[in-house]
Amino acid sequence: MKEFIVTVDGPAGSGKSTIAKIIAKKYGFTYLDTGAMYRMIALYALENSIDLEDGSQVEAMLANTKLDIVGNQFFLNGKDVSEEIRTPRVSGVVSPVAAIREVRVKLVELQREISKGKRIILDGRDIGTVVFPNGDVKIFLVASPEERAKRRLREYEEKGVEADYESVLSSIKERDHIDSTRKESPLLKAEDAHEIDSSTMNIDEVVEAISKYIDEKIGE
Ligand code: DC
Repeated sequence: MKEFIVTVDGPAGSGKSTIAKIIAKKYGFTYLDTGAMYRMIALYALENSIDLEDGSQVEAMLANTKLDIVGNQFFLNGKDVSEEIRTPRVSGVVSPVAAIREVRVKLVELQREISKGKRIILDGRDIGTVVFPNGDVKIFLVASPEERAKRRLREYEEKGVEADYESVLSSIKERDHIDSTRKESPLLKAEDAHEIDSSTMNIDEVVEAISKYIDEKIGE
């Protein structure tokens, strides 16, 4: 089958990655978590004390970061950082890193390269607007900040990462603000995206709603 692109955009904690993984399995699609790519760059910036205001440091950082994705494993310059990129420490710096134009140019190019010729579902913030404006099925997944904070907290608890509700909620609100007001590729619903509010839906219901759009498109 030829290339088929499903894009899932939405704010942090709206359930994008959970849903995208299920859809990928159901349809035999590849899944690409583009947020993890921004997280890898953010981790590098943290570990190497990169001054994000300094263009030449940012340029050197991008030249010195090699990202490899094998299934659900993420390698930064050969080291498996799959766990590390999910910590609150990385979540705390990733939005400013993702707001840098040069960072986005590099990662968008990589996302298109990885997707070439594939049947793939990608989740992120700008996938249906910037990365694949001609995507086959576009989803914009939203949920209230409170519901998203609860979900993130549960994820942290499952992984044994310490966190509390109030700080998770305020970090989510702060990231929403930065992600949707930044100049470079802000979080926006594509005109032709299907908006789904998952606040009061369970996972099966969201999967079903998205499957309907995919089935329709495949049947065309
Ligand atoms: O989905 P996430 O929480 O793992 O994303 C981490 C950060 O990366 C988030 O602050 C927004 C940014 N991001 C982005 O700007 N564009 C994407 N396509 C994916 C993520």
